[in-house]
Amino acid sequence: MSTQPETETVPLQLTVNGEQHSVDAAPWQSLADVLRRSLNLTGTTVGCGLGTCGSCTVLVDGDPVRSCVMLAVQADNSTVETVESLAPDGKLNVLQQAFREHGALQCGFCTPGFLMLGTELLRREPEADERQIRECLSANLCRCTGYGGMVEAVAAATSAGLRRYATASRRDTAAEPAAVPSDGPDGERA
Ligand code: FES
Ligand code: FES
Repeated sequence: MSTQPETETVPLQLTVNGEQHSVDAAPWQSLADVLRRSLNLTGTTVGCGLGTCGSCTVLVDGDPVRSCVMLAVQADNSTVETVESLAPDGKLNVLQQAFREHGALQCGFCTPGFLMLGTELLRREPEADERQIRECLSANLCRCTGYGGMVEAVAAATSAGLRRYATASRRDTAAEPAAVPSDGPDGERA
C-alpha cells in the first residue's frame, strides 16, 4: 500500500525583530504565514494575499517587502522587522505616536504595512518632504481613502517635523506636553 509522503519542510534561520529563530517551513509557505503561524507575530496582517494592498509589508534586510508573496525560504538567513519591532517594550515610538495624534489610524487593518513603509522612509530620508512621503505611502492601499492623516503623521515624525515641534514648544513654555515624543522613529534620540 502506498503512503502519501509527508509535506517536506525546509529548516530556516531568521533573525526577526532582533531575535534569532530556527523554523521549519514548507517550500510553498509565505513569509507572512511563517511570521504569523510559526512565530505568532500577528501584527503583520494579510489583506489581499496577492501582493496588491501592502498590508503585509515587513522589512527584510531593511527593505519593504510584501510578505504575502515572498516565500519564507527566500528569507532564509535574513533579518526581518515586523510592526512588533516598533514598540518592543509596549511604548509607542515616534511614528506610531504621530499616527495616533494625526488621525492616521482608521480601520487599523492596513496600519502595520503603512508603519513599516514609513519606518523605512524615515531611515532612508529622515527629512523626507511631502512629495516623498506621498510617493512612499502610495505603494500601499488604504481602502477608506485615509491618506491625509498618514501623510501628516509621517511628516510630523521626520527630523524636520520634530525640530518644528521642538521650536514651537520652546516658544510656548506653557504648551501642553509633547505631542510627538523626542525620540526618533527607531527609538533613538532625534
Ligand atoms: S496582503 Fe500582501 S499585498 Fe495584500
Ligand atoms: S485605514 Fe486601513 S484601509 Fe484605510
